[in-house]
Amino acid sequence: MNIINLTGDELSPDGLKEQFAMDVLTGLSSSPKGISPKYFYNDHGSELFQQITESEDYYLTNLEYEILKQHGHSMAKKLKETTDIVDLIELGAGDGRKTTLLVNALNEAGVKINYFPIDISKEAMEQMKEFLTETDQFNITGIVAEYFHGLNYLRDNSTNPKILLFLGSNIGNFNRGQAAGFMRRAWRTLNANDWLLLGADLKKDIDILHKAYNDSNGITRRFNLNLLSRINEDLGGNFDLSTFDHYGSYNPLLGAMESFLISKKNQSIYIKELEKEFHFKAFEPIHMEYSTKYLEDELLELGKTSGFTVEETYYDPKKWYSNFLFKVIKH
Ligand SMILES: C[S@@+](CC[C@H](N)C(=O)[O-])C[C@H]1O[C@@H](n2cnc3c(N)ncnc32)[C@H](O)[C@@H]1O
Repeated sequence: MNIINLTGDELSPDGLKEQFAMDVLTGLSSSPKGISPKYFYNDHGSELFQQITESEDYYLTNLEYEILKQHGHSMAKKLKETTDIVDLIELGAGDGRKTTLLVNALNEAGVKINYFPIDISKEAMEQMKEFLTETDQFNITGIVAEYFHGLNYLRDNSTNPKILLFLGSNIGNFNRGQAAGFMRRAWRTLNANDWLLLGADLKKDIDILHKAYNDSNGITRRFNLNLLSRINEDLGGNFDLSTFDHYGSYNPLLGAMESFLISKKNQSIYIKELEKEFHFKAFEPIHMEYSTKYLEDELLELGKTSGFTVEETYYDPKKWYSNFLFKVIKH
């Protein structure tokens, strides 16, 4: 598996660390304080996320896995009607376990695949090697980059029909305005008749959402706190993890689960790389993540207003989770 790292350059070879430092500086200087969820996935964070996906409370991954298992072959047949070779591009691929279902279905339908996972986490890319094996019908070029940096690179380097995968309800990390911006930017990087397979979590009973983001084994808590450990390790911070609590709650106005870390006391944290101290009042939150939930109509509208038509919609039997297969329209 060939890996291209777009995060550094000659002047700043460890561009990702620099970007992490600047984002932490901006986030902890803001009011309310916040840290981007894209930094959750260092080695330990990726491992913890994998454990979350295996927990009974976190239904999202299992349901999407079942949907792809059940419908992967019919999707592949549909795609085979238009092409024998695809560039399969996946944003924020994680460990790629669900992707194997589609890869196998497409290969079995006789479609050759060039797979381009794009992920800002080098560690997630490494984890993927466990689940995906190259063959002469399936080759992998991993791209370590921000979503659109990777997509823009591929716009100049990919000539085959494309399928863009955005699974795991990663779109939920955006608010609704950002999600609309994301969809239109994705559309701009694709060509007429390319495909987008979007996985999105649906609105449902709030107790079920609460359980999913406050799992009974406390893995989500450790996952959130791990980002403070990462600041300690990578940027020389002195966060004492025992002085922060995890809190996950549903915001009905936003239609989103939100995660926070809450300082249990008045305290100051020094971050060496930033040469700066940050003050936390007792009970002050750091906003860690949005997980926006959708209605079916909202997703249809999101696709339509962004320049896509809906080819198929797939759900689990309880209609908790959805996968939408969109096609790009260009006039
Ligand atoms: C929730 S995890 C994995 C989700 C995976 N698609 C799944 O369904 O299990 C999200 C992944 O997206 C990556 N990621 C998050 N924000 C990103 C960004 N802005 N650019 C590139 N990768 C990003 C993370 O590093 C992580 O590997």
